Amino acid sequence: MTIADVPQVAYIDSISFAAPWSAQAYEFEINESKSSKMVVLVQTSPGQQDLVVAYGGMWLIAGEGHISTVATHPSWRGKGYGEAVVVGLLGLAIATHADYVVLEARVSNTVAIALYEKYGFRHVGIRKQYYREENEDATLMHLAPLDEAYTVKFLGMRKALEARFAFNNLVSEALE
Ligand SMILES: CC(C)(COP(=O)(O)OP(=O)(O)OC[C@H]1O[C@@H](n2cnc3c(N)ncnc32)[C@H](O)[C@@H]1OP(=O)(O)O)[C@@H](O)C(=O)NCCC(=O)NCCS
Repeated sequence: MTIADVPQVAYIDSISFAAPWSAQAYEFEINESKSSKMVVLVQTSPGQQDLVVAYGGMWLIAGEGHISTVATHPSWRGKGYGEAVVVGLLGLAIATHADYVVLEARVSNTVAIALYEKYGFRHVGIRKQYYREENEDATLMHLAPLDEAYTVKFLGMRKALEARFAFNNLVSEALE
């Protein structure tokens, strides 16, 4: 994700979350935060501005990868694009030798939970009233260990996704 992507990202955020991040928050994550890695999935056409279809972020701190956000533009959901973002983030966590990855999701967010469970995340706790705007609990999900066995499984899943649609994975291709 670059500063040029921020207007599109902030727009998708505003129609995806009850408490969206501001454009300034995204600029901080890109320019200032040392631990934050932000990624986008863009559709490219010659001579046109890249179209952001999905994006996500992760904080990498002391062996922990914390997925901070993931969203797909509502018009592009159900096509594997959110999964491609998660694949990019998990590839980063593996490549940087994170010990584990965590995230929070609304307990009613069955779509996101199914996506994370697909990649091996387990429910390890409930954070009461974590989403104050929606008055809803979060499920805390945890993925570990990111060992060789997981990496082999992960690369197989990434290959299966790449067979569904062509995308250049500039984030975690170094894992090959
Ligand atoms: C959650 C979200 C990012 C998923 O993105 P997406 O691009 O629509 O998802 P994908 O098409 O990549 O699907 C990946 C997996 O998610 C799950 N999934 C996707 N759509 C689903 C649906 N309608 N019902 C149940 N599970 C679904 C499945 O496990 C799917 O894997 P499969 O294709 O093998 O079944 C998207 O719905 C979104 O932006 N939601 C609003 C923001 C949000 O809630 N973000 C998550 C915060 S924790």
